[in-house]
Order: sequence, then C-alpha cells, then structure tokens
Amino acid sequence: MRRCMVTGANRGIGQVIAKTLRAKGYDVIGLARSRPSDWVGDFVEVDLACEVTLERALTTVGELGQLWGLVNNAGVGGGGVVTSLEHTDFRQVFAVNVTAPALLVKACVPLMTSGGRIVNICSTVMRGKAERTTYGASKAALASMTRAWALELADRGILVNAINPGPVDAGMFRRNNPEGSEGERRALAATPTHRITDPSEIADLARFLLRPENRNLTGQVITIDGGAT
Ligand SMILES: NC(=O)c1ccc[n+]([C@@H]2O[C@H](COP(=O)([O-])OP(=O)(O)OC[C@H]3O[C@@H](n4cnc5c(N)ncnc54)[C@H](OP(=O)(O)O)[C@@H]3O)[C@@H](O)[C@H]2O)c1
Repeated sequence: MRRCMVTGANRGIGQVIAKTLRAKGYDVIGLARSRPSDWVGDFVEVDLACEVTLERALTTVGELGQLWGLVNNAGVGGGGVVTSLEHTDFRQVFAVNVTAPALLVKACVPLMTSGGRIVNICSTVMRGKAERTTYGASKAALASMTRAWALELADRGILVNAINPGPVDAGMFRRNNPEGSEGERRALAATPTHRITDPSEIADLARFLLRPENRNLTGQVITIDGGAT
C-alpha cells in the first residue's frame, strides 16, 4: 500500500484530499495541530509555525518508513494593506506556508526510496491581490520552490507539482465568504464558469498528480479557478 502524507488533513481541503486518497487505497498520514477523533492511522500533531515543535515533528516524520507522496496543503492566510504591515504579519504566514513545506520535503525525500510525488497547494492570490501581501507572496514562493524541487529531485524519480486554486468551497474561502455573501457574489461574478471550485476537484487533481502512472508531469503549477485568471 502506498503511503502519502497530507498536511492540514484535519479539516477543509486537506480533509477532502485525505479522504479521497484513502478511498483510492493509499495509507494516509495526517499532519496538523490536532488529530481528529475519528482519524485512522498515523497522525503527526505539530504547530508548523513553531520552530521547536517542527524540528521534533521532522524527526518523527523521518522515522515513518517508506513514503510515496507528500501533499503540502496546510496553510494560513494573512491580510492587511502594505502601509499597515509589521514584522509579525510575515512571520507566521511564511513559517507555515513556505518554511514548513520546504523542511517537510527535506525530511520526506530520503523516505521516497522508490521515487515519489510531491504536490504543493498554492493560490491564485500569488498573482498579487490588494490586502494580501503576505499570503500572496508566500504562495508565489511555494510556486517557485515547486519548480526548483522538480529540477533537483527528478533524478530520484520524484515529481513535484503544484495546484493553484482560486476560491474553493471550503475552509478559508467559506469562513470569510458564507453562502449568499457579497464576497461570494463578487467571486462568482469574476469567474467565467460562475462556480466556486468544489474541494473534491482539488482532491481529484492531487490524486492524479500522485499517481505512479504520472511519470513525466513535473514542475508545473496548475491553476483551477473556472477561468478567472
Ligand atoms: N479555501 C480556499 O478557497 C483556498 C483557495 C486557494 C488556496 N487554498 C489553500 O489550500 C490550503 C487549505 O486551505 P483550506 O481552505 O482548507 O484552509 P483551512 O480550512 O483553514 O485549513 C488549513 C489547514 O492547515 C492547518 N494549519 C494551519 N496552520 C497550521 C499550523 N500552524 N500548524 C499545523 N497545521 C496548520 C490547519 O490545521 P490546524 O489549524 O488544526 O492545525 C488546517 O488543517 C491552504 O494552503 C490554502 O492556502 C485555499
């Protein structure tokens, strides 16, 4: 049975990715700050923003045994216009969205002894969006790292891609834009397909990218946003 680690697996998009992979026969290792009560299998509880607990968790990850896939899905948003930004606004967003995925890749690559697949979850906000300086910049960094890792890891049979969603009907987007809200109306109006992406569509794409049959698709940042960008 192939093993995949999914970060942010306890809720939102990550939970749907974990369920989808499990339904397809993968052994899924979850990672987040808290393990859901109904989680079956290994789960690494860690605050990715905390250097000390992250180092401890990386040691745990290094002892997990052979691994096939890693989905760097955990992420945090960050807002504020540039004229109001403080050092601290960058710290947590970059720790969780940039540093942690990179260190997790470092810990997981030695476990991918028969090749592997890495999927990073970016955001179309990386193109630049008002009041999203820190979040957008962190996702642009993740896209850049996706391409760098694809180049560095191809010789090991490890393919690295990113999914780049617009608004998704889950987690972050739904918390800020409930059904019927002005925010949802604006998002729909800006989307040629007039629909918000379902989390299952992100999960299906992740599953596709993780398949061993995908043998030559690497270094790509694949946008799924109903044509909005
Ligand atoms: N929803 C959207 O519209 C949308 C659009 C584009 C991209 N994305 C991206 O998709 C990914 C998932 O987003 P979502 O909407 O599902 O968000 P969400 O519901 O807020 O879930 C975020 C996940 O990340 C984990 N996480 C956050 N901070 C963490 C920390 N310090 N340590 C460990 N885990 C942490 C959370 O677990 P705990 O808080 O329990 O630890 C949770 O599982 C994110 O990378 C996001 O940027 C989302």
